[in-house]
Amino acid sequence: MSTAPSPLVGRSVLVTGGSGFLGSHVVDALRARGVTEVVVPRSSEFDLTEAGPTRAMFQRHRPDVVIHLAARVGGIGANRRQPGTFFRDNMAMGLHVLEEARRAGTAKVVVAGTICAYPKFAPVPFREDDLWNGYPEETNAPYGVAKKAVLVMAQAYRQEFGSNFVVVFPVNLYGPRDNFDLEDSHVIPAMIRKFVDADARGERSVTLWGDGTPTREFLYVDDAAAGLVMAAERYDSPDPVNLGAGFEISMRDLAGTIARAAGYTGDVGWDASRPNGQARRMLDVSRARERFGFSASTPFADGVAQTLAWYREHRHEIAAREAARKAP
Ligand SMILES: NC(=O)c1ccc[n+]([C@@H]2O[C@H](COP(=O)([O-])OP(=O)(O)OC[C@H]3O[C@@H](n4cnc5c(N)ncnc54)[C@H](OP(=O)(O)O)[C@@H]3O)[C@@H](O)[C@H]2O)c1
Repeated sequence: MSTAPSPLVGRSVLVTGGSGFLGSHVVDALRARGVTEVVVPRSSEFDLTEAGPTRAMFQRHRPDVVIHLAARVGGIGANRRQPGTFFRDNMAMGLHVLEEARRAGTAKVVVAGTICAYPKFAPVPFREDDLWNGYPEETNAPYGVAKKAVLVMAQAYRQEFGSNFVVVFPVNLYGPRDNFDLEDSHVIPAMIRKFVDADARGERSVTLWGDGTPTREFLYVDDAAAGLVMAAERYDSPDPVNLGAGFEISMRDLAGTIARAAGYTGDVGWDASRPNGQARRMLDVSRARERFGFSASTPFADGVAQTLAWYREHRHEIAAREAARKAP
């Protein structure tokens, strides 16, 4: 990130979802840039799927800038189990946050979209101009379409009310403090957990979802946080911007990379009865570089090593928390 003083210094920045995986890293990045007034509202106090609590949050905190990350998030399994909930909650949170920011006269809102908004058959690498050229992959379409509708709202509010609302579209993220619960985690934490736990228990076989052919791109969470802060500091345009690392890896190669890093030497099987999701995913990352100077800096191997180290350090407390939650 730039070493020039941040234009956010001296302003109050509210991060919805600031206690979540990405949000906690955004809060760290803001503090590292010298922003001292960082507000992290919790869902237990302000449920952003409801208009009243969202308005109360703006009235209480009167932020200058909002980074809107609160969302219902999960992997393919969670998206398939609760498509209605994913659509409703993400739509409602975007709707209420942007409307209440407009009413409150908030100077700027940065919204996190998602790569799941892209059409199922978008040409690779995905360019922002292709966002509307088709329907998303079915397993995550309700989540992706809700996020895409928030982009339209941000653009329409800019046009009608002059609101400085910008929307960035991060690719799949990974890193320390990710969700490692196998019920609703994304692919990297799920693989790390399976390989580390299998190795610790002396198991010689791990089964992964799908047939291993799909490709994905992954952005280290600290890089994503830097991109969001840079957008908050410097970007003012209706055009959506991808946030990615600009590389593509197959699930099979990803499994090999993570198994080796975890020290797991047993067999890897694929359960092809489980969905693959979209066949290929990789973003064109040139717009973020051109518009606000963002490019990812963490090598993938380093990011995987950091994430693995974090999971090793926290795996017992994660398992204990899950057991307590599931206890009758
Ligand atoms: N993770 C990824 O790979 C990825 C990729 C692309 C885009 N994104 C986007 O990045 C953002 C953050 O994702 P994440 O992975 O960090 O998610 P996360 O760890 O699940 O965090 C979600 C946050 O949303 C808040 N939240 C949920 N429901 C809420 C409600 N009804 N009212 C108020 N707050 C609510 C939670 O707050 P409490 O803790 O207070 O309940 C939590 O802090 C999301 O917008 C997501 O779409 C994520």
